[in-house]
Amino acid sequence: MRSSSKVAKIGAVLVSFSLLCLAHVAATTEDFDIKEDYEFPEAFKFGVSTAAFQIEGAWNEGGKGESMWDTYIHEHPEYTLDHSNGDIAADSYHKYTEDVKIIKDLGVKYYRFSFSWPRILPQGTDNKKSKDGIDYYHKLLEELRRANITAVVTLFHWDMPTPLMDLGGWSNPKMVDYFLDYARFAFEEFGDEVKIWTTMNEPHQHCYNYCYYIFSVLQSGTYAHYMLLAHAKAYRLYEKEFKPRQNGRVGITLDAFWADPKNSTDPLDIEAAERYRQMRLGIYAHPIYSNIGDYPPLVREIIDTNSRLQNFTRSRLPVFSKEEIELLKGSSDFFGLNHYTTYLMSHPTINETWTIPSWDHDTFVRMEQNLAWPIPGADWLSVYPPGFRKLLNWIKNNYGDVPIVITENGMCDFGGLKDYTRVSYYNDYLYQVLLAMYKDNVNVEGYFAWTLLDDFEWTDGYATKFGLYEVDFDSPERTRRKKLSADNYRNIVEKRKIDFDYIKQPKMKKLPYQTPEEENTV
Ligand code: NOJ
Repeated sequence: MRSSSKVAKIGAVLVSFSLLCLAHVAATTEDFDIKEDYEFPEAFKFGVSTAAFQIEGAWNEGGKGESMWDTYIHEHPEYTLDHSNGDIAADSYHKYTEDVKIIKDLGVKYYRFSFSWPRILPQGTDNKKSKDGIDYYHKLLEELRRANITAVVTLFHWDMPTPLMDLGGWSNPKMVDYFLDYARFAFEEFGDEVKIWTTMNEPHQHCYNYCYYIFSVLQSGTYAHYMLLAHAKAYRLYEKEFKPRQNGRVGITLDAFWADPKNSTDPLDIEAAERYRQMRLGIYAHPIYSNIGDYPPLVREIIDTNSRLQNFTRSRLPVFSKEEIELLKGSSDFFGLNHYTTYLMSHPTINETWTIPSWDHDTFVRMEQNLAWPIPGADWLSVYPPGFRKLLNWIKNNYGDVPIVITENGMCDFGGLKDYTRVSYYNDYLYQVLLAMYKDNVNVEGYFAWTLLDDFEWTDGYATKFGLYEVDFDSPERTRRKKLSADNYRNIVEKRKIDFDYIKQPKMKKLPYQTPEEENTV
C-alpha cells in the first residue's frame, strides 16, 4: 500500500508510538458499546490470507517469468520505502510446509492465497507453461488437503506478467482473452483441488495506486472496464464448463475504506461521501451485484460530463453492450470484501493539486482522517472499527442479501511480538462484524485475517508489518515467530467468540504527554 512514511523515522518513534497507540485504542474502545456475548455461527468460515508476490520469493526459480513488480522494482529500487524487492520475501516458495503448519496452528479451516500468473505461465500467455510452477501449487494444495484446510485461490493479486504489462496491462482489451486463457488453464489443472476461487483482488488499488501512480499506466476508467469484463467472462466460463463437474464457487474481491461525511449535517459532505463510495466501490460492485447492472448512474454521469469538458470525443469510461451488462450481472457467488480503515469526506473548498483527468479529480472529494483515531503503522490506516459495520450495511442496502466473505482485514505496525494494538484491532473489528450480523442482519459468511505472516507490503517494502507471525527478514532462514495476535485469533476461532480479556494489556506508567482522560483508560 502506498505510504509516505519514511523508514528513517520508524526506529526513532517506535517505542513511544506504540505506547501511544495502546492508550488510544483503549480510549476508543469505550465508544464501541462492547456488551453482548455474540457467537460466530458454526458454519462461519474463519481463514487467513496471503498473496503470491508478497510471500513466495523465488522470483526467478523453476522457469518463472517476471511480473511487473519484479521488473519495475529491479529497475527502480526507489519505488519501495526501504529500497527492497520481492526476490526472497518470506521465502514461502521453499517454506510452504512450515506455513501450512502455522496456518493449522491458528485453527482456521480456510487459507486464501494467490497463484502467481507468471509462475504458471511465464510469458502470461497459455502457449508456454512452467512445469515447476504448476507442481509447486499442486504440492501446496496437497499439503493443505492433508492439514484439512480448504484452499481459496485468487487468480490475480496484482503480479501481472511483465510481457502483458508491456502491452498496457488492463487498459488493453486483449487482456480479457489472456486472462480467460489463464483462468481456463487454472480451472482445468487445479479445479479438482480448488473449490473456491476469486478472480481478481482489489481492482481499484491495482489500477489507482500502482498502475496509475507508480507505473504510470493511465486511464483508470478503462482499466476498471476490462478487469470487470475479464472477471465476468472467467465466471461464465467456470459456470458453463467447470461448475457442473467441479461444483465450486467463483467470486471477486473488492475493497473499500468506509467514507463518512466530515460534517454529518452538511449536505455537500454527505454527497461527497456517497460520491466516493460509488467511485471507489460502486464502479465495480454495481455491474455485478445490483439488480439493474451496468455502472452506477452517478459514476456514468461524472465521467461522461468530465470527459466532455476535457474535450474527449468519447467518455473515458467505456460503455457496456446489453450482452455485457447481462454477462456481468450476478457474475459472483459471493461478495469478497477487503476492509481496513475509514476516511472523512468533505466537499473540496481549496484548490486541490489533482492531475486532470484523474480518478481523484473525477471523485472530487477532500479525504482526511480523524486525528483522534490511532495510526499504528502506515499513515493511510487509522483505526476506526465502527466504519466496518457501516460499510457492511451499505453493501446490504445497495446490493441486498448477497453473502459477504471478508477476504481481508488487518492492521500494520512496525514490528514486535507483543502486538497488543493488533489484538485490539482484531477484537474491535470482529465485534463490528458480529454487530452487523446480529443487529443488522447482514449476511456475513466468513472472515479472513490479513495476513498470515509479515510480508512484502508493496511500496512499503518490509517497513510495515501486517503479520500474525513475525518473519525475520535478516535471517536466511526467514524464521517465523508467533505474535500475541496469532494466539488471540486462534482463541476466537476456537471459542467462536471474542474474549476481550484473553490477552491482557500491561498496566502502563503515566506518559508525560498523556491527557488525564487517556491515563484513566489504561
Ligand atoms: C490489500 C491487498 O490485497 C494486500 O495485498 C495488501 O497487503 C493489504 N491490502 C494491506 O495493504
